[in-house]
Amino acid sequence: MPAVPGRPPAHRPADATLRGRLPDFPWDRLEPYKATAAAHPDGIVDLSVGTPVDPVPEEVQKALVAAADSPGYPTVWGTPELRDAITGWCGRRLGARGLTHHNVLPIVGSKELVAWLPTQLGLGPGDVVAYPRLAYPTYEVGARLAGAGHVTYEDPLDLDPTHLRLLWLNSPSNPTGRVLSKDTLARVVAWAREHGVLLASDECYLELGWEADPASVLHPDVCGGSYEGVVAVHSLSKRSNLAGYRAAFLAGDAAVLGDLLQIRKHGGMMTSAPTQAAVVAALGDDVHVHAQRERYAARRAALRGALLRHGFRIEHSEASLYLWATRDESCWDTVAHLASLGILVAPGDFYGEAGERFVRVAMTATDERVAAAVARLG
Ligand SMILES: Cc1ncc(COP(=O)(O)O)c(C=O)c1O
Repeated sequence: MPAVPGRPPAHRPADATLRGRLPDFPWDRLEPYKATAAAHPDGIVDLSVGTPVDPVPEEVQKALVAAADSPGYPTVWGTPELRDAITGWCGRRLGARGLTHHNVLPIVGSKELVAWLPTQLGLGPGDVVAYPRLAYPTYEVGARLAGAGHVTYEDPLDLDPTHLRLLWLNSPSNPTGRVLSKDTLARVVAWAREHGVLLASDECYLELGWEADPASVLHPDVCGGSYEGVVAVHSLSKRSNLAGYRAAFLAGDAAVLGDLLQIRKHGGMMTSAPTQAAVVAALGDDVHVHAQRERYAARRAALRGALLRHGFRIEHSEASLYLWATRDESCWDTVAHLASLGILVAPGDFYGEAGERFVRVAMTATDERVAAAVARLG
């Protein structure tokens, strides 16, 4: 293509493009270990990613199918039934009081929101986004896509609030399974409000507490009954095995959600009508959540016991779908050791330098594969 004087070429150097702002995709580094594990005569046990493997609840599938004839465009804000289902669930399950439809917003799975929230809030150079020292990598991606700065924290109250615009909490945590107490959450809410920082609380593992009962920032003991400056992020992916549907929502500050609704309308970021109908069914039913919890509890007990007997130490892991485990060696040595047994796990340094001596072991494998892992760990 001939260069137009004064205009940059279409293919600029990578560091000047949106793509150039992003880190390398770390999962590619796991490929050789995946090949080793896959060579096991009884096949790989893949505990590296947290993707659900159990069936979508039947009543949710039926709701999706019943809404299959949906020729018109859905709305970004969702059907009134969907908004009712979200406010109802937040009241029943999170203890949130007085939420109206203006306090909720459906999203297309929570990953897209995490990745694009800083951009949709209008953040950019000079602004800072903060997230935990050990964290789901997409918080950093979101800051980078917006061209904003990013900083990690051990204790959010130690952060410099000067340029801080968005503070992520993630309790229960991916990757550590750590749960923050109501007191801690309340202190962070108060600090964020004092400094005019938006608090986004990623609560996608809230239904998966084992040795802790995770609380939402929307609980009155935490937010004082006001949603000012606070937004909770919830997902149906883990709770209802709906990762394939792309179903999640926000709940909290009506002013923030009103702005996001307008922006997301312009961007066409709506969930499909059949998915909206499926979410109504999923949020109205706790029975399947209980059954899914039982499955994970059994897998967790089996894997935990086997890892401990094999010489691992396990830290935190009181909730979520992961065991945060170490043999007090480099995470890559642990990954290699487990791969030689046909078991694939995620190295802790995918989630921050502080994880370099840990691995993350997901409970999202079938009972048969979990039993195989337990047998191999001896
Ligand atoms: C902490 C955290 N937030 C968000 C997500 C994204 O979930 P989804 O896009 O399926 O809602 C994940 C997925 O693993 C996660 O671990």
